[in-house]
Amino acid sequence: MKSHIPTWPSLRHTRCASLIASLFLLFSLPLLGQSLTGRWTIIGKPLDNGEQSKSLIELKQSGNELTGTMKNLGYSVELKGTATGTHFELFAPWSPAKPFMTGDLVNGELHAIDRGHREVIAKPAGANDDIPTVSYIEPPPLHPVPDNGLAKTPPMGWNSWNLFAGSIDDQTVRTMADAMVSSGMRDAGYIYVNIDDTWEGVRDAQGNIQSNHKFPDMKALADYVHSKGLKLGIYSSPGPRTCANYPGSYGHEEQDAKTFAAWDIDYLKYDWCSARNIYKNDALQPVYQKMGAALQATGRPIVYSLCEYGWGDVQKWGPQVGGNLWRTTGDIRDEWSSMIENVEKQVPTAPYAGPGHWNDPDMLEVGNGHMTDDEYRTHMSLWALTASPLLAGNDIRTMTPETKAILLNKEIIAIDQDPLGKQASPVKHGDLETWIKPLANGEVSVGVVNLGANPAQGEVRANELNLKGSVKSARDVWTHKDIAFKDGLYSEMIPSHGVMLLTVSAK
Ligand code: GLA
Repeated sequence: MKSHIPTWPSLRHTRCASLIASLFLLFSLPLLGQSLTGRWTIIGKPLDNGEQSKSLIELKQSGNELTGTMKNLGYSVELKGTATGTHFELFAPWSPAKPFMTGDLVNGELHAIDRGHREVIAKPAGANDDIPTVSYIEPPPLHPVPDNGLAKTPPMGWNSWNLFAGSIDDQTVRTMADAMVSSGMRDAGYIYVNIDDTWEGVRDAQGNIQSNHKFPDMKALADYVHSKGLKLGIYSSPGPRTCANYPGSYGHEEQDAKTFAAWDIDYLKYDWCSARNIYKNDALQPVYQKMGAALQATGRPIVYSLCEYGWGDVQKWGPQVGGNLWRTTGDIRDEWSSMIENVEKQVPTAPYAGPGHWNDPDMLEVGNGHMTDDEYRTHMSLWALTASPLLAGNDIRTMTPETKAILLNKEIIAIDQDPLGKQASPVKHGDLETWIKPLANGEVSVGVVNLGANPAQGEVRANELNLKGSVKSARDVWTHKDIAFKDGLYSEMIPSHGVMLLTVSAK
């Protein structure tokens, strides 16, 4: 008779089978769409320097709650979020409203959108899949870095990021430099031609950073740009990786500063990026000081542009680390709301602007096509009134006459470049916002911006301008016409999102 009680071997088989089953279940839970718990790898597109971009995500799901870590070349981010059915959302600590990653579990893979735009697929990681961690480097003790004597007026030039992002290369920079000359941009004061992120290669055996295949010879490029009467800028990060995931200067600050000087670089934008995964905000000052001191030790005059989105009250210590300008906001977009938000956000920093050290609400979007010409005139007016750096971000080779008229308006450039270096603040609020900037020669520039959706009658009253006497003469900077105040008042119709900009002198 066949016993129903399992004999030892069959019991062993059953136990073994159930062990195998539970192991299978454990590793395949994500595959069954039950849980996101597990280790996942994302193999990205290879970078322009040949490095394979790889991320490892370790997730733990408990009910609807999701926690985890994402490790990338050179940094890691703690993530928190939710999972509902097969859908998930993960947030980084610095961005509680905008998801770091969202996606769905599809056939055992995470099909996701990384940081709002990059489509990625994460697959279950192999047992040996890992990413080396970066060791902590203690920031240096604080000491003041001497003033480098540069940027007595807000820097002017062109930067590659807003239009070209990752597709910038040597040839584009050369043709842009040519266009800076032929368009009259150089002669109007736009001197710096700045290469942003994605130029970086890998480090050689001695740790020297090299440029990638898009920039075959950085020194030759600098020579070319210099031969046009222009200056060349470059970009790096105090973190191990830049914002586009290329090697940063972490642990190589002096070495990179020497390399930049040897290439005859004239300007460095130094972007916090992955440094935020290593340092807290209280390390911003010493970490920026490290590169400030390294640049000065090279003996080459290099404008130092801090890019850390206005964190840690940078305007209060920027000059002490050798900084000539510092971002006060997140990234600008070619949109009216983004442009206005950036310039309004830097209002509290106004007392800290002055010759040699400037607040930077980010680069210009004029001519990039997603704002109206009225909006671009307002963009340019507000940047000039606030003594902000004028770094064009459009294609200088193919500018429309309207874009040229905005960027090359000498009267407005003069307001931005006024040697007194005062940053205007709004003195009247509402749909019609009035900004006033005193100038070195005693004149005053005044801008009225129509934030409203309809045309409106803008007014400027002479007694609100803090003039040292009554109005002698006044000029409309956009129409290039002298205008007259009547009984202490000047008034003009301003289109929606447009601007009236005057410079007024006193008797
Ligand atoms: C950050 C900066 C941008 C640009 C990119 C490049 O987002 O704020 O201005 O430099 O990085 O990756």
